[in-house]
Amino acid sequence: MEKMWTGRTDGKVNKAADDFNSSISFDSRMYRQDISGSLAHAAMLCHQGIITEEDYSRITEGLTSILSELDDGTLAIDRDCEDIHMFIEAALTARIGDSGKKLHTARSRNDQVALDLRLYLREKCDVIVNMLTELVRVICRKARSSSDAIMPGYTHLQRAQPVTFAHHIMAYAMMFSRDVTRIRDARARMNFSPLGSCALAGTTYNTDREMTARQLGFDGICENSIDGVSDRDYCIELLSALSLIMMHLSRFSEEIILWSSWEFRFVELDDAYTTGSSIMPQKKNSDMAELCRGKSGRVYGDLVSLLTMLKGLPLAYNKDMQEDKEAVFDGVDTVMACLEVFTPMIDTMRINRTAMLKAAQEGFINATDLADYIAKKGMPFRSAYKLVGQIVRYCIENNKVLEDMSIEEYRNFSPVFDEELYEDISLEACVAKRCSTGGTAPSSLERQIGYIQNLLGFSAAE
Ligand code: ARG
Repeated sequence: MEKMWTGRTDGKVNKAADDFNSSISFDSRMYRQDISGSLAHAAMLCHQGIITEEDYSRITEGLTSILSELDDGTLAIDRDCEDIHMFIEAALTARIGDSGKKLHTARSRNDQVALDLRLYLREKCDVIVNMLTELVRVICRKARSSSDAIMPGYTHLQRAQPVTFAHHIMAYAMMFSRDVTRIRDARARMNFSPLGSCALAGTTYNTDREMTARQLGFDGICENSIDGVSDRDYCIELLSALSLIMMHLSRFSEEIILWSSWEFRFVELDDAYTTGSSIMPQKKNSDMAELCRGKSGRVYGDLVSLLTMLKGLPLAYNKDMQEDKEAVFDGVDTVMACLEVFTPMIDTMRINRTAMLKAAQEGFINATDLADYIAKKGMPFRSAYKLVGQIVRYCIENNKVLEDMSIEEYRNFSPVFDEELYEDISLEACVAKRCSTGGTAPSSLERQIGYIQNLLGFSAAE
């Protein structure tokens, strides 16, 4: 096929160079956006008297039929074309002749590709926001049904203080809620139209950039044409938000993997989200969680690729920028693929209250509460802390936990102790008393859920 840009050169590019230069294998996924951009552009050209009504209606008809044929598969994308923009323009010209050749008036592929990418990623932002919201909703629901399940909370992966399972997983709901707001922010800054920036300097034609921006649902236009064609901040912002999502998924996955182990047995994943071993018959592996953890690396890689690709680029467009798409598409695809399995995996995960409680009973995680009890009796907290340390040591030596010690044993350490202590150090009391705002007491759960519902805009009924 003859190159559209033949003229200055004979267009006979070496075969390997031609393949190397081509982006159609990965940019064809933007065909819908390319066509809506062209439809808006043609409407503007006609409105401004740059093309005739007749050309405009031919262009519209041609593009509409190309769109529906691409949608239903009757028109195949020609992989010999350099990119999706050229393919669609060539297909249009093949159908409607000279009118098709007028479409590219007052436009360049530089603003066209920037436009298509913004339109494409804007849609993906909405999809990802919905997927994240669904995940958060599932976590809130799980939390409501586990607000009485006591487990050890950890620091340094050492049992620290008792918390509810609900409280623990609500921490993830907070992370994913922030992710929603980050994607929304990235989308808002992305939503400006570069169309009409043309190659880099704007155009001599009397175009109306606001008109196309409005028609395409943008909040405004890129005010500087050089920035319009050379800015890829929106890809980087999105990839950075996607990297954080992956980091959150990875931390949650890590805990699920740990909790599913026979050593913990805090949770059991539904069979539908686990795999077996080809040799060890007893195995039930958390492959989905491991993959979510593993795939975080590639999304970070996508982010670093783009930051590095852009860092030394002179203004305005350079072909290096064609590399933006594979990275940002991979980031989007990976996050969507992870959320697709992660959310139902959490939804169907069963929790093992007995194992959690047992772990909570064994780690002296009520030691802080015993120290608080002594402090309430008048001993300074630092001294109480020291005394409890000695009691814990005594327990370890005698193979006991704090609840097993008799009141006489306690009194051997200090006369401050009375029978009330047992009530004060019961795990239920330890949890229920931590009712400071944002604390682990079941009473603070509804406030957390309310906060998130308000932030993300879903209601209690959902
Ligand atoms: N396929 C190109 C890209 O993805 C489209 C823009 C081409 N512009 C150019 N001046 N060669 O970046």
